[in-house]
Amino acid sequence: MDRYCVFGNPIAHSKSPEIHAAFAAQTGQALEYERRLAPLDGFAEAVRSFIAEGGKGANVTVPFKLEAVKLAQALTIRARAAGAVNTLVFSDEGIIGDNTDGAGLVADIVVNAGVPLAGKRVLLLGAGGAARGVVLPILEHRPAKLVIANRTVAKAVALVEQFAALGGEGVVSACAYADIEGEYDVIINATAASLSAEVPPVSPSVFTPGCLALDMMYGAFPTVFLQFAGQHGAQLRDGLGMLVQQAAEAFQLWRGVQPATSDVLHKLRAKL
Ligand code: ATR
Repeated sequence: MDRYCVFGNPIAHSKSPEIHAAFAAQTGQALEYERRLAPLDGFAEAVRSFIAEGGKGANVTVPFKLEAVKLAQALTIRARAAGAVNTLVFSDEGIIGDNTDGAGLVADIVVNAGVPLAGKRVLLLGAGGAARGVVLPILEHRPAKLVIANRTVAKAVALVEQFAALGGEGVVSACAYADIEGEYDVIINATAASLSAEVPPVSPSVFTPGCLALDMMYGAFPTVFLQFAGQHGAQLRDGLGMLVQQAAEAFQLWRGVQPATSDVLHKLRAKL
């Protein structure tokens, strides 16, 4: 049986084995998928031993997504743009690094939530790794504009500069929270603020009636950002759909089959 795993530290909480087992059962693919705790100073070695044991591919989670960039012998365009790798393919040509997080987010918005991004006004909150990973996949859907707001404005400006040559020219701009102007159709919280139950300081006027507010975090209850957005008329989506979709993108990459995600998402939701 072909073997896959997810590397992280800690890793016990990872839902990836459950998600990939469900995909495998649904598509009739024979594979094993396990959790692997890599030592903080031993990621590369852990990957090499998995390859030696016959591993075909792996997911990579916190804190190894940047190290995986260095380990990969080839990177996809989206992994290079994201500056992070969450999916490895072990091929005859060596270790290929990809990043399916952004494609997962976009598929969750466009397909699962049924909200097209083409021609839309998109507001991205945050300019860290999570934000950087979704810029290119969003731009590929040709939004009317993509505004990146961050506490540290220089980091948002750096993203605008990076993506100018990748379809972002005239579309992407950066600003401070206090300087956000106008209304948006899609507002994405890619900050770590929800982890400390904080809301990025956006004005309620950014929410148009019926807009989509998405928080990349998820839990049994809506994050404080989603509660705030809901009070101002937004439809709400947390990061669980993105988690399942990024896994589906990885599964497609490894197996050449696109699994359906809605049942898996409902089952995970029921267990939160
Ligand atoms: P990640 O990989 O999760 O994106 P990161 O690279 O450390 O993590 O980035 C964290 C992001 O959350 C940054 O955009 C950070 O803003 P700064 O760059 O100004 O630090 C943002 N962030 C964290 N806590 C926040 C808060 N309480 N309010 C607003 N933004 C916050």
